[in-house]
Amino acid sequence: MAKSLAVLTSGGDAPGMNAAIRAVVRAGIYYGFKMMGVYKGYSGLLNGDVAELNLRSVSDILSRGGTILYTARSKRFMQLEYQKQAADYCRSLDIEGLVVIGGDGSFKGARALSNQGIPCVGIPGTIDNDIACSDYTIGFDTAMNTAVEMVDKIRDTAASHDRCSVVEVMGRHCGDIALQTGIAVGATAILVPEIEHDLERDVISRIYEQKDTGKKHFIVIVAEGVGGVQEISHYIQHRTGIETRATILGHVQRGGSPTLMDRLMATSMGVSAVHLLANGVGNRVVAYKNGDIVDYDITEALDMPRVFDKDLYDIALEVSI
Ligand code: F6P
Repeated sequence: MAKSLAVLTSGGDAPGMNAAIRAVVRAGIYYGFKMMGVYKGYSGLLNGDVAELNLRSVSDILSRGGTILYTARSKRFMQLEYQKQAADYCRSLDIEGLVVIGGDGSFKGARALSNQGIPCVGIPGTIDNDIACSDYTIGFDTAMNTAVEMVDKIRDTAASHDRCSVVEVMGRHCGDIALQTGIAVGATAILVPEIEHDLERDVISRIYEQKDTGKKHFIVIVAEGVGGVQEISHYIQHRTGIETRATILGHVQRGGSPTLMDRLMATSMGVSAVHLLANGVGNRVVAYKNGDIVDYDITEALDMPRVFDKDLYDIALEVSI
């Protein structure tokens, strides 16, 4: 049987995952491997949901959001017995390496499977940009561009009515989407889970200061991890008398055609992952660091503390006055 490599997507989907799958499949075939696609994340390895992908299987997916391999969060795969079963299944198909596109949870699965003798390489694919070892995760740019487009529309109507709009963007533990989107839309206030907030100091007083200089409509961006946009909205209306509306952007941020940035990152990371596996190297995560594509041991990557960009947060505070 020809030596094979496999690829799967796991966790929440992200625009650019298809571009990464395409890069992995094309690079794998370029280096002489038979390429296999695993469907629905790690569950596919437990259910035998695997199929060969050829050069044309990945045609015309570069510009498509979502993932042609589907994705899932497999609870069963967290147990050792299923990790062993998945590794045996890979061996039965002569799969010599696996590329896992996903977030931290997916990388833990990749480490578990590497420990069972199947070399795995992770690629950061999540809109949240919450992978500590990488300055960038596939999907982040597209998600933010979608959020910016939506908030620009919300601003049009907020301006027409002299209203305040409180908008929740995605990011459970990470405020990067909120911070960068907030700067790009000129938000009056940005609330992120990494920085404790006080509504009076960080929102109400900022609205009052801007109102005093003639501003009549306001955008407040709140990360999902902070939550409570309805309550925040009621509070603003109650304290300022400004009519206030809350909007949760939700999963609209997870879809859509990937931006150039996401296509480029996905392609570079996908090819790098195949280079590692072609050289027999596994248990690594590909990352973007200081302008370069690099790779880290999975445990080292998972143990890295995530650093919030406080300088960028301070820039936001200086200009939204
Ligand atoms: O991790 C990506 C993400 O979109 C988070 O921003 C969000 O909290 C979560 O996934 C939502 O997950 P689900 O699609 O399962 O609702």
